[in-house]
Amino acid sequence: MGMSSSTFVGTLVLVLLIQAKGQPGFISIDCGAEAGANYTEPSLHINLGTIASEEISTHTQQQLRSLRSFPEGKRNCYKINITRGSKYLIRTLFLYGNYDGRNMSPQFDLHLGANLWNTVTIRNASITQSNEIIHVPLLDFIQICLVNTGNGTPFITAIELRTLKNDTYVTKSGSLERYLRCNLGSNTAYRYSADVYDRLWYTCDFEEDWTPLNASIPDDSFVDNDFKPGATIMSTAVTPANGSAPLVISWEPQDETDEFYVYMHFTELQVLTGNQTRQFNITMNGKLWYENCSPQYMSVSTIYSPPGGSGKEIKFSLERTENSTLPPIINAIEIYKVKQFHQSDTFQGDVDAITSIKSVYAVTRDWEGDPCAPAAYLWDGLNCSYQGIESPRITTLNLSSSRLHGKIFPSISNLTMLEILDLSNNSLNGEIPDFLSQLQHLKIFVDQNPYLCEADQCNKKKNKKHKSIATPIIASVGGVLILLVVVAAILWTAKRRNAKALMLKKDQSAISPQYTEQNDSSLRFQKQIYSYSDIVKITNNFTTIVGKGGFGTVYLGYIEDTPVAVKMLSPSSVHGYQQFQAEVKLLMRVHHKNLTSLVGYCDEGTNKGLVYEYMANGNLQEHLSGNRSKRNFFSWEKRLRIAVDAASGLEYLQNGCKPPIFHRDVKSTNILLNEHLHAKLSDFGLSKAVLTDGGTHVSTVIAGTPGYLDPEYYLTSRLTEKSDVYSFGVVLLEIITGQPVIAKNEEKSHISEWVRSLIGKGDINAIVDSRLEGEFDSNSVWKAVEIATACVSPNPNRRPIISVVVSELKESFATELARTKHRRTDTSDSVKQVAMNLNTEYLPQAR
Ligand SMILES: *[C@@H]1O[C@H](CO)[C@@H](O)[C@H](O)[C@H]1NC(C)=O
Ligand SMILES: *[C@@H]1O[C@H](CO)[C@@H](O)[C@H](O)[C@H]1NC(C)=O
Ligand SMILES: *[C@@H]1O[C@H](CO)[C@@H](O)[C@H](O)[C@H]1NC(C)=O
Ligand SMILES: *[C@@H]1O[C@H](CO)[C@@H](O)[C@H](O)[C@H]1NC(C)=O
Ligand SMILES: *[C@@H]1O[C@H](CO)[C@@H](O)[C@H](O)[C@H]1NC(C)=O
Ligand SMILES: *[C@@H]1O[C@H](CO)[C@@H](O)[C@H](O)[C@H]1NC(C)=O
Ligand SMILES: *[C@@H]1O[C@H](CO)[C@@H](O)[C@H](O)[C@H]1NC(C)=O
Ligand SMILES: *[C@@H]1O[C@H](CO)[C@@H](O)[C@H](O)[C@H]1NC(C)=O
Ligand SMILES: *[C@@H]1O[C@H](CO)[C@@H](O)[C@H](O)[C@H]1NC(C)=O
Ligand SMILES: *[C@@H]1O[C@H](CO)[C@@H](O)[C@H](O)[C@H]1NC(C)=O
Ligand SMILES: *[C@@H]1O[C@H](CO)[C@@H](O)[C@H](O)[C@H]1NC(C)=O
Ligand SMILES: *[C@@H]1O[C@H](CO)[C@@H](O)[C@H](O)[C@H]1NC(C)=O
Repeated sequence: MGMSSSTFVGTLVLVLLIQAKGQPGFISIDCGAEAGANYTEPSLHINLGTIASEEISTHTQQQLRSLRSFPEGKRNCYKINITRGSKYLIRTLFLYGNYDGRNMSPQFDLHLGANLWNTVTIRNASITQSNEIIHVPLLDFIQICLVNTGNGTPFITAIELRTLKNDTYVTKSGSLERYLRCNLGSNTAYRYSADVYDRLWYTCDFEEDWTPLNASIPDDSFVDNDFKPGATIMSTAVTPANGSAPLVISWEPQDETDEFYVYMHFTELQVLTGNQTRQFNITMNGKLWYENCSPQYMSVSTIYSPPGGSGKEIKFSLERTENSTLPPIINAIEIYKVKQFHQSDTFQGDVDAITSIKSVYAVTRDWEGDPCAPAAYLWDGLNCSYQGIESPRITTLNLSSSRLHGKIFPSISNLTMLEILDLSNNSLNGEIPDFLSQLQHLKIFVDQNPYLCEADQCNKKKNKKHKSIATPIIASVGGVLILLVVVAAILWTAKRRNAKALMLKKDQSAISPQYTEQNDSSLRFQKQIYSYSDIVKITNNFTTIVGKGGFGTVYLGYIEDTPVAVKMLSPSSVHGYQQFQAEVKLLMRVHHKNLTSLVGYCDEGTNKGLVYEYMANGNLQEHLSGNRSKRNFFSWEKRLRIAVDAASGLEYLQNGCKPPIFHRDVKSTNILLNEHLHAKLSDFGLSKAVLTDGGTHVSTVIAGTPGYLDPEYYLTSRLTEKSDVYSFGVVLLEIITGQPVIAKNEEKSHISEWVRSLIGKGDINAIVDSRLEGEFDSNSVWKAVEIATACVSPNPNRRPIISVVVSELKESFATELARTKHRRTDTSDSVKQVAMNLNTEYLPQAR
């Protein structure tokens, strides 16, 4: 017969006017219906296209009388709520009808969510074309998109969804696209209500020499199966005209690798006498497919196993067995092509969040369909990570210059993999909200929003603004103990003089940090460039993950038995590369015992990685939150030591480097601890070497982590040395209190507000981490609290410079050490154990 897919013409004669709506499990969308039309599905998401109804306006089926066309936009989509995990028959209908009078049959793509479903080619303006697919959606909605490929304006007439039974049409993998569905032996096409699932049953023009058979099957005596082809469909059949010849059904797929699933439905149409038998074997491409098939009278058997099949030609042959007195028959056949949708839809939480962001800000961009996929249709202003078969995740949201008004909207915090958030050049107001702190990988950019003053000319306005859009942090300034501030200020003025002297001295020696071989244990290796295969060897093929950062995964590795941490940049990381470069550049240049040191790096195509010294004890935050070890939290002495370490690292960046370096992302997760619990600052991805033009600040795009971000920097975009001091102050408060930086569901949610509210009461025990159980020198703690609160002062001028912070912390440390030394002597512990020479151990050293 040689019926190929291109020569086959199925004729759909719609004899039944179907009001499918109202039938359970049916969703029908008349795409051309006027808004508010009675039977338009409410779950319809629509971009208003052009409604036309010329030639087709008299069609017997109401939904075929009009269509919707999409002259604007590249991709236009219908978003339809469904039940995830259920099996659906999804159908689109297209009836061109020369609605635009151009007589040019358009061609365009049809997408199902993130995947190309089919290319729609209109061949005959007056024939309704349909695409059907049996599909199990994995999200709570499906999106059907029409994509303009430059070959005419896309349009659509109707979309229909029908629920099928879960255990029918099961595939090993993939969805099933209708290739053929034939009601054999009939000259009438059927759908609902002849078919309860509303499948379209075509009359198929086979060229074979077949004899049609028919019988009248009363519905009530008909025995159906799960496929429910229905009595009307099954009441006709075909048999070979030559009773001894086999009945052959064959076709030539366009692509040899196409895989097909075939469902044959049989019902015996005549009452067989005692010596009559109808029995046949079915072969596929010469191999036995099913043996001794004997259809039952008035009862459906569906043969669909073994599934699958592919090749240049696919040929089913129904051959009567020797004992059979009657030739083979077949009543109906369905042929489906397996459609693999390889591209996952974007993670639903991200889709929900970005959808609500779109609606809240009334984003006017061409945001249609799946946000991330296919990648060619990525929404403008977004970037995503695509990890194999996993759902893409949104990693960048750039809404700069989008005329956004109002506050930063909470749904943003539901984009949990967000790395870059750019809200610059909008009319946003209010503060950077706390909820952004839930985004672990986030760097924010909020520049040139309104009421923000760049230059001196609006100082007055700026002050006013401070009042009007004051953040909770700023609003609580009034509550600070003035006395404390005054005392502290006097203290620092004195210290600052010393610090200045120190800096001068440094300047004279013209420090320009360079890498030199040192006998520091962390620097046993020369910094070097590794190949990717080296990295694979070092990490033993990435066996042990020790962390996940914003821009990649950190693995444990070994270089000659010395552990190292290898941070691999995830290839999809958008800004990762810039930060990678920034970090390599910076760490190549600077070295200090309180900065994590770079052993080497790998920069081979998309394989980019940094090899650091291994910090065996993780980050400070893990310890403070008790995540690392429930029992072993740090003593006050250890905490102070860590604070001094971190502050020293920061001081080195600011004072020991020329030009000074602003870290811009100081936070407790960026303070790492080695096996001796020495602390080092890490993650220099956002760091900036700042050439100040004699002034004290630079204007930059704001970057940092919510909760740690200097509010003054956020408001003015003026980056000063005090911005890092602020962030360090927040870390110090964490160290003292063991509290999260931002407490959920509390009035004084930021740690600085919380501490300030307690200072007044003078009860140090209420502030300090209760897990310390009073094991500290209270003068030492008070001093640390004073330093920390001064660091987080909203007014940068009230914040101490970093060298003062270091020396004050050392004093606090010395006070505590005196206590523990005393106590240990008492308990006859070895003094040696704790003895530290402060002067040498903690003198800020520029190298
Ligand atoms: C909508 O259609 C139903 C039946 O299809 C009809 O009973 C009802 O009156 C119609 N409603 C409107 C508002 O036209
Ligand atoms: C579709 O589902 C979403 C999320 O559950 C809901 O917000 C929306 O209102 C639904 N749309 C319709 C038309 O029912
Ligand atoms: C089909 O399977 C899905 C997921 O397992 C389930 O939610 C749904 O209820 C099932 N439907 C039927 C008809 O069994
Ligand atoms: C389109 O289909 C109609 C009805 O089947 C037929 O009469 C007409 O000749 C076809 N037109 C073309 C151009 O094939
Ligand atoms: C059934 O077959 C008979 C001949 O065998 C024919 O006359 C009749 O038209 C057929 N009926 C249908 C509905 O095809
Ligand atoms: C009928 O089919 C048989 C077997 O294929 C063949 O031998 C015979 O010639 C055919 N008869 C006619 C009349 O075509
Ligand atoms: C079948 O059986 C009937 C009687 O039951 C008989 O008349 C007929 O000849 C038999 N036919 C064959 C082919 O054996
Ligand atoms: C039908 O299949 C059976 C079992 O494999 C086999 O014995 C028989 O020869 C087959 N008959 C024909 C006509 O192929
Ligand atoms: C055919 O009939 C004979 C005799 O009735 C029987 O022995 C044999 O098993 C039958 N063959 C098949 C394949 O049913
Ligand atoms: C954000 O996520 C939370 C928790 O998953 C959910 O309750 C909330 O509805 C989401 N909000 C939006 C706007 O998506
Ligand atoms: C955001 O988009 C604007 C304009 O499209 C661009 O200038 C800016 O660099 C982007 N921001 C980021 C962080 O990439
Ligand atoms: C998205 O990220 C990829 C790599 O991560 C980059 O090549 C691409 O330019 C980015 N696209 C946009 C629109 O920023």
